[in-house]
Amino acid sequence: MSGEKLKLGFVGWRGMVGSVLLDRMHQENDFEYFDTVFFSTSQKGEKAPDVASVDILWDAFDCDGLKKMDIILTCQGGDYTSKIHGELRKADWRGIWVDAASTLRMKDNACLVLDPLNKGLIKDEIHKGTLDFIGANCTVSLMLLALAGPIKANMVEWISTHTYQAASGAGAQNMKELLKQMGHLYKIGENLIEDPHSNILELDKLISHELQGKSNYPQDLFGAPLAGSLIPWIDSPMENGQTREEWKAMVEGNKILGLGGGQQIAVDGTCVRIGAMRSHSQAITLKCKSDVNFSEFSDLISEAHDWLDFVPNNKEDTLKRLSPANYSGSLNIGVGRVRPMNLGKEFVNVFTVGDQLLWGAAEPLRRFLRLYLEVTV
Ligand code: HSE
Repeated sequence: MSGEKLKLGFVGWRGMVGSVLLDRMHQENDFEYFDTVFFSTSQKGEKAPDVASVDILWDAFDCDGLKKMDIILTCQGGDYTSKIHGELRKADWRGIWVDAASTLRMKDNACLVLDPLNKGLIKDEIHKGTLDFIGANCTVSLMLLALAGPIKANMVEWISTHTYQAASGAGAQNMKELLKQMGHLYKIGENLIEDPHSNILELDKLISHELQGKSNYPQDLFGAPLAGSLIPWIDSPMENGQTREEWKAMVEGNKILGLGGGQQIAVDGTCVRIGAMRSHSQAITLKCKSDVNFSEFSDLISEAHDWLDFVPNNKEDTLKRLSPANYSGSLNIGVGRVRPMNLGKEFVNVFTVGDQLLWGAAEPLRRFLRLYLEVTV
């Protein structure tokens, strides 16, 4: 390839995931390696961000413009992918499509990107001429990053993961609704909350009345109370009783790892929305293929990659570090509560927390772009 920079088209850079990605790409000077055109679905012709190689925004629905790109990076969402990706491919565009949405993930000709786990597989796919590279579901990526050590050591027979997913996974407006719910509850109970002598059961009755939807508790987006409660359902139903979020854990997890047929790791559990802002947590039961030596196992977990933040299994460190609040805005993946279980010598208990917008969405995409350059330029 010549010394010319690749043309990168960026769509959906103003949304929540897109903004986090833009920010990370700034921090890592990624834009220096590309001639970047920013696209917009609604504001073509307006001024593009400073890092752009072209001053104005191009129309994100104009396939002729998009086709000029070597790489299209999109955080615009599944509807945009469904509309535009097919049109571009039909028009014989052979560029690289990099996407945060789930639309293309399980297509045979798409590769899921999570390079600390599958760098070799991504490189093979680039060499093979694969054109679609997609970020995986946030909980799947975060789970695999937490368990990278034992997974790479081929120790894992199955994984049961129960999630505690932040409001951000449902979208920016949902984060605001969570805060509205919190504020609403406080306002309703304020006099009793601030009175040190008030009766707690009276306060609880007042709050429960709100949570049970007997008043005007703000829950249009979630469809249920989240602050002061939880929602054990994420995404749409599957025929087997799982939710789609639960289904993704096994199919996407094994696809990332390149495991098929009898080699697959079984993964299942319940996905739950809780009132955290932007970091997802998971309580994991790991069934290993043989009895576990705990000191070796802890080393394997904690030394797996640069972002692994191992939290010793004690109260002080757990309270101080192993929380969604602590990992929000951080690339670190917290892993703690690692201990043997009463279930048998092959079982391990793990609790993990990671930022849903960073490693859960934006980071694998920007790292793929750099890897693509490393492999091809
Ligand atoms: N589906 C995830 C959630 C977020 O609802 O939390 C995006 O991967």
